[in-house]
Amino acid sequence: MPGYHPRDEQHPGARQPADSATIPIPVGAVNRPAGASSVAGSGSPAEPGWPADVPTTPDALPPELPTHLLAHLSDTHLTSPGVRYNGVIDADAALARAVAVLQQAAAGGSPVDAVIASGDLTDTGDPDAYRRVRAALESLTVPVIWATGNHDVRTVFHEHVLDLPDVAEPVLQVHDLSGLRVVVLDSTVPGAGHGVLAADHLAELADALASPAEHGSIVVLHHAPIPPPSPLLTYFALHRESRRALAEAIAGTDVRLVLAGHHHLAQSGMLGSVPVAVAGSVAIRTDPVAPPGHEHTTTSASLNVVAVYPDTVTVSVIPIDGADTVFDLGPAQSAEIIRRSIGRG
Ligand SMILES: [Fe+2]
Repeated sequence: MPGYHPRDEQHPGARQPADSATIPIPVGAVNRPAGASSVAGSGSPAEPGWPADVPTTPDALPPELPTHLLAHLSDTHLTSPGVRYNGVIDADAALARAVAVLQQAAAGGSPVDAVIASGDLTDTGDPDAYRRVRAALESLTVPVIWATGNHDVRTVFHEHVLDLPDVAEPVLQVHDLSGLRVVVLDSTVPGAGHGVLAADHLAELADALASPAEHGSIVVLHHAPIPPPSPLLTYFALHRESRRALAEAIAGTDVRLVLAGHHHLAQSGMLGSVPVAVAGSVAIRTDPVAPPGHEHTTTSASLNVVAVYPDTVTVSVIPIDGADTVFDLGPAQSAEIIRRSIGRG
């Protein structure tokens, strides 16, 4: 199915014809309030969002700010009511902890501009679980971009998340986050755990990437296009031929980053010359150094924060297990340390 198929009211202009152009999604980062016209100590233009009295860094440049700040989470595995994930985990509670981290960030003045959820949203494709995962992430009141995973049921995902009932074939989504293009692939094989990217799906990707976006592109899929971290996952991985074909499809394009899930472990790697960042599950974590032959998982969990800058992209892993604070410096304390470190003030 060609074209773009966003899902809901958070996406202005959604529900357009299947062959419509990319749908723009306004985000906050690029519209952050402008700082003063100059930075103390340099006279050079301030980065948007920084106050006037922030000194330049030791290299005499204004502090850097990302154009886009994204939360990337994966493998929420919401179960049917009354069922524990793997018989142990309250997946709704785990998701609530992830949401609380992002709510706290927003309340503290660091909201993300959008959330990307890279599949295995549910454990068995229960429509009620889709309703709950949508309610949880859409409560953040920023655009949410969804991918489907091998534990999802494609048709149920289409109906209850993308609002596309009766669509059985893979859907390629193209989102525009204020100039940052996010292309979502469907790497699933109905009824199977491994992943495949069909040739016609990759042809759609090539069409979507035919012209560069203002801030470049990010590709999202569930099955990570890097080697899996455990022996069992080796047999549920993305086909290596699909990995190779994806690398070929994005080579020479404006794709700056590939985001994925499935491995239940925060990982990074490369697909050709493009970095790959895998978000851990918000419910469990795969042990990559378990004894040979063992598939060992723990209740540890995390999400990733992706910061897009004009000339680079960073990915930070945020544990959501709860942790004690070591220090929490306020703006005045930080400013004092900056002044002392660069010999001003
Ligand atoms: Fe998963």
